[in-house]
Amino acid sequence: MASVQFLSGKRILLVIAGGIAAYKSLDLIRRAREHGASVRAVLTAAATQFITPLSVAALTEDKVYQDLFSLTDESEMGHIRLSRMADVVVLAPATANILAKLAHGLCDDLATTALLAADKPILAAPAMNHRMWHHPATQANLHLLTDRGVRIVPPTEGSMACGEHGIGRMAEPADIIGAVATLLADTGCPETDGIPPADGRLRGRRALVTSGPTREPIDPVRYISNHSSGRQGHAIAAALAAAGAEVVLVSGPTLLPDPPDCRVVRVETARDMLAACQTTLPRDIVVCAAAVADWRVESDATQKIKKGAGGPPVLHLVENPDILATLAAPGPDRPTLVVGFAAETETVLEHARAKRVRKRCDWIVANDVSPATGTFGGTMNTVHLLRGDTVDSWPPLDKDEVARRLVAAVADRFAAATVDPG
Ligand code: CTP
Repeated sequence: MASVQFLSGKRILLVIAGGIAAYKSLDLIRRAREHGASVRAVLTAAATQFITPLSVAALTEDKVYQDLFSLTDESEMGHIRLSRMADVVVLAPATANILAKLAHGLCDDLATTALLAADKPILAAPAMNHRMWHHPATQANLHLLTDRGVRIVPPTEGSMACGEHGIGRMAEPADIIGAVATLLADTGCPETDGIPPADGRLRGRRALVTSGPTREPIDPVRYISNHSSGRQGHAIAAALAAAGAEVVLVSGPTLLPDPPDCRVVRVETARDMLAACQTTLPRDIVVCAAAVADWRVESDATQKIKKGAGGPPVLHLVENPDILATLAAPGPDRPTLVVGFAAETETVLEHARAKRVRKRCDWIVANDVSPATGTFGGTMNTVHLLRGDTVDSWPPLDKDEVARRLVAAVADRFAAATVDPG
């Protein structure tokens, strides 16, 4: 069994179904969080007969998700994204009913829909009457699920709430926690060096994130832009929101869904992006992850430029405003912490150091965006965090994990402030 240290920094989506063992899931949440994991919970309607959403919310320090057809649940965090934002899905207690639904692809509520849409490993801790456990239908469903890769933490033997004795009691939370750690290790979820998640630690802080490319028009049908996907900026916005910050994400055109719990302002050009950012001030935290186009056409054509006898047009470019440098400039609205990115293709650290000084930002995240690295448009990133003279070089990580680490560092920075920076 993998060490429970492995849980540190991991995100668990916990689906709680309706069984008497649901009370043990409260202890499961507590233990998972003690080991440094964050837990987001989905309750079935039946689960709320056994435990209250309020106690789950208090223990997870997060909103509890219950209703597939709730406008707020679905607009804040669609059922598809619930598992996207997790490293592992834990179904505990797993009743005979929910196991049957999962085995046969039924999804008539948020819990079963989130399970069917899950793209992460699933671990189920069954709990039911011993006759239901031994029933051929349940056993067949379990075989189907294990064949598909769902990991089962078997129930134990003992006296049951119904007064009978047999196999069917949900495994103890400590054993489920151990099994989650093993599953994460077996499925190659990266170690997080024991960096705790920042959940709740940025509550009350206001953050602004820029993300994606900008588009600078040449004429009504053509523009200048770049390959930025917005993945890193969006992941940072999501991680800041998950840490409790009130987040505004100002994004250039991307194909990404809005990150949960963020106010998203969509813009096209660098000048629009700057204006949108300035209207959000004052802010405590600013992270400029956008790949802003450095130049725009001085005067874009109002009609489509036609090919003509004069040959290709000559575009006269002018420099765009520097959003990061503008926001980081001294002044009454200067945010407490301004973080920039340095997208480089050579002498990464040297250029990044110079950029941090030139733009007057507090920290800079340097990354190599040479085509060979696959960073632009890809899911992985290899970054160095420069804070003053300190350089932390992180291994190649998923962009969500880079975001999580960066936000943990931001939370540490605010926790360390002796004077309330707000
Ligand atoms: N940035 C910005 N506004 C611009 C250009 C860049 O806010 N007009 C920000 C980016 O969001 C990033 C940082 O400045 O946080 C560095 O961006 P980068 O593209 O690496 O550098 P440039 O300023 O464009 O400099 P160069 O092209 O010389 O590398």
